[in-house]
Amino acid sequence: MNDDAVIAVSDLHIRFLNRSTFSGRKTSGSKYNEALKGISLNVNKGDTYGIIGETGSGKSTLAKILLGIYKPTDGSVRINGKQINFRRTRDIRFMRNQIGIVFQDPVGSLNPRLPVYKIIRAGLLYSDIPREKYDDRIREVSLLTGVPISKLWNYPGELSGGEKQRVSLARALAAPKKALILDEPTSSLDVSIQAEILNLLRDLKKKTDLTYLFISHDISVIKYMCNRLSVMFYGKIVESGNTREVASSPKHPYSEILFRSTFSLDKKEDVDIPLAETASSSSGCIFQRQCGRRFEPCERDPPSIQLPFDEHIVSCWLYHKDGF
Ligand SMILES: Nc1ncnc2c1ncn2[C@@H]1O[C@H](COP(=O)(O)OP(=O)(O)OP(=O)(O)O)[C@@H](O)[C@H]1O
Ligand code: SF4
Ligand SMILES: [Mg+2]
Repeated sequence: MNDDAVIAVSDLHIRFLNRSTFSGRKTSGSKYNEALKGISLNVNKGDTYGIIGETGSGKSTLAKILLGIYKPTDGSVRINGKQINFRRTRDIRFMRNQIGIVFQDPVGSLNPRLPVYKIIRAGLLYSDIPREKYDDRIREVSLLTGVPISKLWNYPGELSGGEKQRVSLARALAAPKKALILDEPTSSLDVSIQAEILNLLRDLKKKTDLTYLFISHDISVIKYMCNRLSVMFYGKIVESGNTREVASSPKHPYSEILFRSTFSLDKKEDVDIPLAETASSSSGCIFQRQCGRRFEPCERDPPSIQLPFDEHIVSCWLYHKDGF
């Protein structure tokens, strides 16, 4: 067990009932969609830990488990060393007191009928901060995140995109948190505002002892923000490690394709494989249908996690240390 881990996830699985199964229609496919297929990672104190992967790979599902919105089917989650029992309300509340979230779309995540003050105040409702201190705390967190004090009684519709995302951040941090999950926090913003928010997030880390779990499609954003990262493909982590090392010398064939492209995953034409049309394989390696380097063992069994280079972890038969 890693004592520095703010978030420690081990062999996490979650499966959802397929919609067609739910409606009683017969399908030729599986009854379940296994959205996470055994995810393990440690986010250490002070990390900005990146999660990168194409749409549907399970990034937000992982975030929702870490906020107690979804219950995992199997596996373990420890937050600051505490094992979470997803059936206990007390544990879910503990998790939410430790971890905040900022979503991709500030427009959809802010109630248009509430003024900024009340939106930020909602972040205090289950905290230990007494009500008579709310005003002070809202002012403090607004200054920290750059929400203009003069706009605390404005409505979201009267704010710019960047201001809205600052309000989301203020709400997430209203009650002090150990870690913040940033789920595509800048992908809906104009490029100029994206840089402003990314720099704000970096400044915030210098002023606080926050740890970030940073989810993005955008390779350049991940490289700019994150010291460590995991690459996800169809509910699995295929590669993890130090950002500089993985980005400059990716080992997994999927990561090689990702990092060879200097562009965002959103711009799918820049990536050689047609990502929108990819499908995972049900047996053997999940990437075998797209992989130009597959060989005999790839169809037979899923590759187990290997540790070829210190903390650089790759899940691929090419690096199997015991041979095959
Ligand atoms: N509540 C749910 N019920 C059924 N299936 C779900 C549910 N939530 C997520 N899924 C499925 O889990 C898989 C992973 O979805 P998720 O939203 O985590 O992907 P993502 O990596 O965040 O994608 P994106 O980059 O588009 O945000 C998808 O196949 C999705 O359809
Ligand atoms: S295990 Fe085989 S199919 Fe999968 S990524 Fe590695 S080489 Fe390709
Ligand atoms: Mg998502």
